[in-house]
Amino acid sequence: METVRQPVVKFENVSLRFDDQLVLDSISFEVWPGQSRILLGAAGSGKTVLLKVALGLVKPDSGSVSVFGQDLRKLGERELFDLRSRIGMVFQEGGLFDSLTIEENVAYPLLNQRVLHCPPEEVRPKVEESLSFVELEHTLDKFPSELSGGMRRRVGIARAVVTEPPLVLYDSPTAGLDPITSYTIMALILKQRDLKRTTCMIVTHRYQDGDMMANYVYNPRTGQAEPTGSDGDRAFQSTVFMVLREGRLVFEGTQDELESVRDPYVSKFVKRSEH
Ligand SMILES: Nc1ncnc2c1ncn2[C@@H]1O[C@H](COP(=O)(O)OP(=O)(O)O)[C@@H](O)[C@H]1O
Ligand SMILES: [Mg+2]
Repeated sequence: METVRQPVVKFENVSLRFDDQLVLDSISFEVWPGQSRILLGAAGSGKTVLLKVALGLVKPDSGSVSVFGQDLRKLGERELFDLRSRIGMVFQEGGLFDSLTIEENVAYPLLNQRVLHCPPEEVRPKVEESLSFVELEHTLDKFPSELSGGMRRRVGIARAVVTEPPLVLYDSPTAGLDPITSYTIMALILKQRDLKRTTCMIVTHRYQDGDMMANYVYNPRTGQAEPTGSDGDRAFQSTVFMVLREGRLVFEGTQDELESVRDPYVSKFVKRSEH
């Protein structure tokens, strides 16, 4: 039992080099339970690498990373694997297995994460529930190549959340999608956050995505994402923005703080809301 409140993810002076390039430069931040973290930054600024470090897939050269209070340096491969069963990951390109059906793709984490001990008879109902969460329950027997790009992203979300992880990492979930499909994806991410109370980190280049996480809430009565009023109905969560530039964390703060930054690199990622 975790009795002490602690960050879900904690980076302390994390640096990482690939060849002679400093890809992460002394990064420190803490993600607290229920927070949504929006990670902005130019292509190649280190966003994907940062998520991979949080997953323990890439080891930093220096600094420390803790996830759920566990120092990743102290974990063996098997313990890391078990820790990852508590983290949902939506990869940049969906990351589905082309040769597996949608059902098999979504079942994959349930069948392969031994710490979960998912009884065989519970696999199919959980897969169906997760697919109906993203409104794709009719695609069980299809293959990824038979679905549109937006549908594949939704399957990626279903697969990431089928184990009900307390932390979900989304790498560019709306990249390459049209605005309407992007909205659908963000509405699902919001629904996941608000119904399951998950902590999340979202890499995106669309300011609207962060704006939506910061200012919308999923209403289970209407089944819609709705703007939050000033009625404090979202006391549970908060949205923090981070901006990476060439491996450095050049901004961390609220949306208001982000919008008042004068630095031209940072303000490039700000677009005043259109709604
Ligand atoms: N496995 C790797 N080997 C060498 N360089 C890498 C590797 N992965 C990423 N990089 C480099 O690290 C930098 C950050 O990459 P990445 O995190 O993927 O950027 P982005 O912010 O676009 O997600 C880039 O310059 C990229 O070329
Ligand atoms: Mg990337």
